[in-house]
Amino acid sequence: EAGAVALLVYNNEEGPVNGTLGEVNDNYVPSGGITQADGEALAALDGQEITLELRALMEERTTYNVIAETKTGRKDNVVMAGAHLDSDPAGPGINDNGTGSVALLETALSLGSKPKVNNAVRFAWWGAEEFGLVGSTYYVNSLSFEEQLDIALYLNFDMIGSPNAGYFVYDGDDSAQEGSGPGPYGSAQIEQAFVDYLENEVGVATGEKDFDGRSDYGEFIAVGIPSGGLFTGAEGIKTEEEAELWGGTAGEAYDSCYHQACDDLGNVDRVALARNADAMAYVIGTYALSTEDVNG
Ligand code: PHE
Ligand code: ZN
Ligand code: ZN
Ligand code: ZN
Repeated sequence: EAGAVALLVYNNEEGPVNGTLGEVNDNYVPSGGITQADGEALAALDGQEITLELRALMEERTTYNVIAETKTGRKDNVVMAGAHLDSDPAGPGINDNGTGSVALLETALSLGSKPKVNNAVRFAWWGAEEFGLVGSTYYVNSLSFEEQLDIALYLNFDMIGSPNAGYFVYDGDDSAQEGSGPGPYGSAQIEQAFVDYLENEVGVATGEKDFDGRSDYGEFIAVGIPSGGLFTGAEGIKTEEEAELWGGTAGEAYDSCYHQACDDLGNVDRVALARNADAMAYVIGTYALSTEDVNG
């Protein structure tokens, strides 16, 4: 309703805030709990004078990244893989991102602490992704330039078991879509490694997902570290063509419980999760042996 918009905001102030929606948005960051319908309603108010009621006050917390690295392998050519461990406050966050977190944990446990690998493997479970990629951005910026150079590549896993799944691989070469640009040099090879495994070994067609900046690879590509990863879709709508390829329901979201209370244990396509967990383990294992195709 124009004139009185209520949003959850992270700002330690009370009372109404006046301004146009653009001005309000510049000063107050909405929580992750906004649905697509909210977004459309807000877009309709753009440019109008509104009053924003601050309903939820900022809560300050310390959050953590959890990082584990193999004892074996070169420390100057590290294969890094990450998944965010936090969830949107609206729900338990099982697809987003229990799926990526648990598959990564399973991969780490299977690899063990002293695998016979050429390159060290570093696993990261990021904190506070939902609040603006906070943990991963902090981590990358905490590294010296030398330490950044020691990371051969970064693999990201955020939502890999969506209930109406697509099989998307981050688009390292940006061959098809406009807008986001390719990943750093070497990212095209990472994309190909995932595509080869999923298409030839698992037998599922893949689609491409732009590096649109919405997950923890953001700061890695910003500093030039080759990146890739998997994604089964969030609030986007599955097309007819995709439903032909992958099954599921055209015209519905890949994850209709995205950032909602119903993102619970029932909100996982276990076949998609298993396939993507296999691809994750395979690609991490391959790069643990050699990153030749990515960085010569
Ligand atoms: N990072 C988004 C979230 O956690 C989901 C997402 C992942 C969107 C990957 C696009 C690409 O809500
Ligand atoms: Zn999320
Ligand atoms: Zn996520
Ligand atoms: Zn591509």
